[in-house]
Amino acid sequence: MDLVDPFGRTIRDLRISVTDRCNFRCTYCMPEEGMKWLPRTDVLTFEEMERLARIFVERFEVDGLRLTGGEPTVRAHLPVLVRKLAQLRVPATSASPHAGRKPDLSITTNGSSFRLLAHELRDAGLDRVNISLDTLQREKFQRMTRRDELERVLDGIEAAKEAGFSPVKINAVIERGTNDDEIVDLARFGREHDVEVRFIEFMPLDASGHWINDSVVTQDEIVEKIHAVHPIEQMPARGTAPADRWRYLDGAGTIGIIPTISHPFCGDCDRVRLTADGNFRTCLFATDEFGLLPMMRRGGSDDDLAAEIQRAVGTKWAGHQINQVNFIRPSRSMSQIGG
Ligand code: GTP
Ligand code: 5AD
Ligand code: SF4
Repeated sequence: MDLVDPFGRTIRDLRISVTDRCNFRCTYCMPEEGMKWLPRTDVLTFEEMERLARIFVERFEVDGLRLTGGEPTVRAHLPVLVRKLAQLRVPATSASPHAGRKPDLSITTNGSSFRLLAHELRDAGLDRVNISLDTLQREKFQRMTRRDELERVLDGIEAAKEAGFSPVKINAVIERGTNDDEIVDLARFGREHDVEVRFIEFMPLDASGHWINDSVVTQDEIVEKIHAVHPIEQMPARGTAPADRWRYLDGAGTIGIIPTISHPFCGDCDRVRLTADGNFRTCLFATDEFGLLPMMRRGGSDDDLAAEIQRAVGTKWAGHQINQVNFIRPSRSMSQIGG
């Protein structure tokens, strides 16, 4: 049965945050100190994640699961979870390209430990990986992530390619005055390493609250800068993915831009989220959450959980209000929501 929201959008994609913890402290996401981590007992176990994922995939025909964090690889034994999720089957009667097979399994990671995990995750059934890389300059990397780990991330990207993940995408959050001078360099990195770099408009989900509208570098500015050096043309409609895509006219690959602020794509959104503590969210910017973990631990049945999920999806709003005066920042930051 499809999970359809009040605006007619069918939910196909579930993002599962497996931990709120992270080994980095990116300035656009977390404060340097003072993050309050969830107590371990409040975090979903792998069995609980699998149970919820099964409801989404096998009942509601969700055909894509993405593991996020915090940093998902800091959760111990991650391949065990991937292996469990790879056993799920999208109903054979579904219209999905994954009908009768496992859902598309992907991960979003900062890449610093990916060398250690790439093969194991691949063997467990992971299909795709997106790795964050906001700068190619060591000192700036240290300033932006508060860690001196640029080399490890670059090595993590190589490891992902060697392990056979395809595509490997690179996520670069662009902040004015910080790394907007590297847009062309990052594009060139993608061309040379055969990866799709996605430029992300900075969103008001940083824990320190320093986001201001002027710090957003817009899609149009990014396209203009790259086009001036390496000519690009926009590719046809992107469907439900948040990235708009362009291809290089000389055939050297593609780029993506995630234009949350300047060109909101909420009308096509097909995603929902589960936080590490088992709260269900119908939007990155939602101010309401639905507690699935307490319901499960009180002995709720799969039918109870499914009914609560449907009730929640019934409250999914048309889109975020970032550009309007009545925008309310979610009380959780990116690392606690899962990106
Ligand atoms: P693909 O399946 O590879 O397209 O992944 P993705 O781009 O959906 O996921 P990823 O975790 O790599 O996210 C890239 C950026 O898109 C991050 O900054 C996310 O916060 C952002 N993003 C993901 N989903 C949404 C969404 O529903 N709304 C908005 N505004 N941003 C999103
Ligand atoms: N704005 C935009 N993207 C962000 N991310 C983290 N914080 C922000 C923000 N404030 C991105 C990370 C990662 C993904 C999970 O979310 O770079 O790619
Ligand atoms: Fe960690 Fe990702 Fe947040 Fe950076 S953006 S601090 S890598 S969760």
